[in-house]
Amino acid sequence: MLSLRRGVLLAVQRQHCRYFSGSQNNWNARKGLVLGVYNEGKEGSTFQLTEATAAFDRALSGKLTELLKISGPPLTKGKNRIFYGVHEDFPCVAVVGLGKNNEGVCGTEYWDTCKENIRAAVSAGCRLLQDHEVSHVEVDGCGDAQSAAEGAVLGLFQYDDLKTKKKPRVTTQPHRSADVAGWEKGILYGEGQNLARLLMEAPANYITPTVFAETIEQKLSPYADRVTVHKRPQGWIEEQNMGAFLSVSKGSEEPPVFLELHYNGCPDHTHTPLLLVGKGITFDSGGISLKPSSGMDAMRADMGGAATVCASIVTAAALKLPINIIGLAPLCENMPSGKANKPGDVVRAKNGKTIQVDNTDAEGRLILADALCYAHSFNPRAIVNAATLTGAMDVALGSAATGVFTNSDWLWNELHKASVMTGDRVWRMPLFQHYTRQVTDSQLADLNNVGKYSRSGGACTAAAFLREFVTSPHWAHLDIAGVMSNKDEVPYLRKGMSGRPTRTLVEFAARLANQS
Ligand code: BES
Ligand code: MG
Ligand code: ZN
Repeated sequence: MLSLRRGVLLAVQRQHCRYFSGSQNNWNARKGLVLGVYNEGKEGSTFQLTEATAAFDRALSGKLTELLKISGPPLTKGKNRIFYGVHEDFPCVAVVGLGKNNEGVCGTEYWDTCKENIRAAVSAGCRLLQDHEVSHVEVDGCGDAQSAAEGAVLGLFQYDDLKTKKKPRVTTQPHRSADVAGWEKGILYGEGQNLARLLMEAPANYITPTVFAETIEQKLSPYADRVTVHKRPQGWIEEQNMGAFLSVSKGSEEPPVFLELHYNGCPDHTHTPLLLVGKGITFDSGGISLKPSSGMDAMRADMGGAATVCASIVTAAALKLPINIIGLAPLCENMPSGKANKPGDVVRAKNGKTIQVDNTDAEGRLILADALCYAHSFNPRAIVNAATLTGAMDVALGSAATGVFTNSDWLWNELHKASVMTGDRVWRMPLFQHYTRQVTDSQLADLNNVGKYSRSGGACTAAAFLREFVTSPHWAHLDIAGVMSNKDEVPYLRKGMSGRPTRTLVEFAARLANQS
């Protein structure tokens, strides 16, 4: 086990190291360049070069423009082309289509189309060069260096730590006069999301509750001056009377951990903290209400809430955001065993409320109930929890957006504005009494962990259940089950666990930091 653990920690370090040393023969030292072009007119009939592309073209006396015209159809949005040998410093140049210039925020898509186009185009360009064994890539900032950096870092990520044959590593840097501060910020945003992707994608026998906590502790170690990490053991969880959390964890041989992170970016202690809470089920078998075996492997990512929340805090620390954040992650497995919860069992949460566990697969709300109770003890400015909570959320919105259930219009607005910037969208969902009535009607206890009409409105009854453990006027529950994984919907993420919505959480925290 120890060597497994060390392996995971090393993998995390490797993924996030931007510059690699080692033997540099001519082949693996090959340098590439990603350049953007905008398209106007019908089917991109006319094109416009970005500043960097125009400068490159001038240095080649207009040769690039000429090549673009004769080498094939116009480079419309999403299309790209590779040129060899046009410049002695860059053996491979990838030119990528950015679509229209200055499109801005779209009133129906609720994202910034230009930013999304840049992320997608730069990601595709970097991957194309990676496939051509280019080891170092300079990237055109395309007028928005943060989005370009996000596209590069997110696009190149691939979890292949456990494969013998790995994708060649690629390092990146901004080309010429790109906005370096924006670029650096984009790198940190992208790396934050990649940390969440790594934790979610890695198998459950590698990322146990203990290894998860150790990995986050290690990632936060450079910021020891403003971060404290508590890895609360089972004894502490018992002292806290977290009976709902313990009822889930006791079905597994792996010990639970309650991870508690304090990021103090704001020395003024009068600033009340933002509380981020994440569901940390490192594997969800369903317990005695066992899931079907087909697709069960995806439940290694059922700690996506904990992963995105903790990765956001790592990123907030790296960005030195002037804000105080407390992160809480109840971590355990949901397994069937002789000690596991049985349908009909009644458990008692930290606030004294009793819960009838009619379905042991509705375990996320049980562990979050106790974490939410504990979150209130920190006098929070706001509580935001993230959880891969219900399959019903995926049925409702698919992977288009995270569902947000909130009692606060202010919190909704802040999360929404943040998501328009990041392109990792949120969409508001209802918290009607209608749903509350369906979870407060229980034969044996105060609450039932499944709604009375189990299949109808499953994401909404789950949110109504969580609300029974909230008194804060500013609380939001993010159901991220639908955005947990990516097939090909988000063009700048390869297939696999998505790490969404880490960048939206970071942007939200950054906005909050600016307000205080
Ligand atoms: N972790 C699952 C939800 C999930 C499903 C996340 C698919 C990502 C993809 C959760 O613990 C669960 O099993 N929920 C049940 C609740 C039901 C028993 C009321 C579900 O959604 O089926
Ligand atoms: Mg479950
Ligand atoms: Zn689950």
